[in-house]
Amino acid sequence: MTTEAASAPQAGDVLELTVGDVVHGGWCVCRQDDTRCVVFVRHALPGERVLATVTQATARFARADATQILRPSPDRVSPPCRYARPGGCGGCDWQHASLPAQRALKAAVISQQLSRIGGIDAEVEVQALDDDDVGLSWRTVVTFAVGTSGRAGLRKHRSREIVEIDRCLIAHELVTAVDVTGKRWPAARSAEVRVVPATGERAVLVEGPAAADALPEIAADAVQLVRKSGARTQVRGRGYLTQQAAGRDWRVSLGSFWQVHPGAADALAAAVLAAADPQPGETVLDLYSGVGLFAGVLADAVGPGGGVLAIEQDPVSVRDARHNLRAWPWARVRQGDAGALLRRAGLGGAAVAVLDPPRIGASRELIDVLCGRGEGAEPGGPLRRIAYVSCDPATLARDLRLLLDAGWRLAGLRGYDAFPMTHHVECLATLIRD
Ligand SMILES: C[S@@+](CC[C@H](N)C(=O)[O-])C[C@H]1O[C@@H](n2cnc3c(N)ncnc32)[C@H](O)[C@@H]1O
Repeated sequence: MTTEAASAPQAGDVLELTVGDVVHGGWCVCRQDDTRCVVFVRHALPGERVLATVTQATARFARADATQILRPSPDRVSPPCRYARPGGCGGCDWQHASLPAQRALKAAVISQQLSRIGGIDAEVEVQALDDDDVGLSWRTVVTFAVGTSGRAGLRKHRSREIVEIDRCLIAHELVTAVDVTGKRWPAARSAEVRVVPATGERAVLVEGPAAADALPEIAADAVQLVRKSGARTQVRGRGYLTQQAAGRDWRVSLGSFWQVHPGAADALAAAVLAAADPQPGETVLDLYSGVGLFAGVLADAVGPGGGVLAIEQDPVSVRDARHNLRAWPWARVRQGDAGALLRRAGLGGAAVAVLDPPRIGASRELIDVLCGRGEGAEPGGPLRRIAYVSCDPATLARDLRLLLDAGWRLAGLRGYDAFPMTHHVECLATLIRD
């Protein structure tokens, strides 16, 4: 039934809508013709005319899934995965758009977030990684949720409900070969597969009170149990994977961060080096450093006459970073909150700062120090360049506004399609002091 009445939409209503602009999160925004209610629609593309079923209604807006496409966009394609549909798996947002269109949508979202949140006018291009023109089989880390039945699957969008699947098309073939969804995982909450395409290494992390002897046969080099408390038990193999990037090996413990697209670590390391432009003898900061990938690349550039200080909060990643950086004795790693440490220790005469925070962005404390304000700041000091890697354009926009207000200038902005088929995107902003 198509709702005719000019009342606010209710869950289950079917609305006929003209789809407006893309917005952050994999949605397009629509205004219902008669009530002017704002409706955020998934599975749609800008310019389309659709029938959309309301999935959630609040006093201020509604959410809906496009369930019938009355007038398709020229960018529409048939989703390669049969689970990427209304009510299906929530992992992918843009399987119904061509890859060039997905990148244009992500570029539009970045520009929109910068403008709305940061008041910043910037055009950006989102580039493919590894010349990927398919967008499938790239995901080297997949976390499968396990239901009370012991079956593994993937979650529905904005839901705890699990969709049982036979295969995830964006997962790397090595992930698929572990066949998590074809097995039973008694007493587990999730089973995460991590793989290294370059070497074929495979690890599985099982979360929950599952017992080691109750685990199914797993075709993996390493198996680890992760308890709710965070305690880890290595059931088989080593507790880390050896990743390759920037021409070197990197030890990455099973709980440490590593980019999930096989081309992302190399592409970002090269782009960060170009953006940071460190000179021999300079001091460089790698903030939110993970296992030390950028610190290593920067340490090569500044040479033994310079210095690199990497700051990372997670103790396991800090151990990895110390191991990975042992070839560069002029690169040091400190454990702690990047903002608090910088406030206490100061910039240490650094000429360049690289930051790669999690989705929530950099802390206000850290931005204040980079802006030359508060304790630890060095107003008029030698800090001349900032390379900011971000996986969330909204928090990037917030932090850029603060930096621009303090006299930094946005000298470059690029997007990287490190998560094809999803709404996620990686950005790199370069700031210089005028
Ligand atoms: C997006 S990852 C970046 C890692 C690294 N740059 C890379 O490319 O491999 C963000 C890192 O920040 C760390 N982190 C999160 N909050 C932090 C904080 N307050 N202070 C320092 N590090 C933090 C996380 O543990 C994680 O390793």
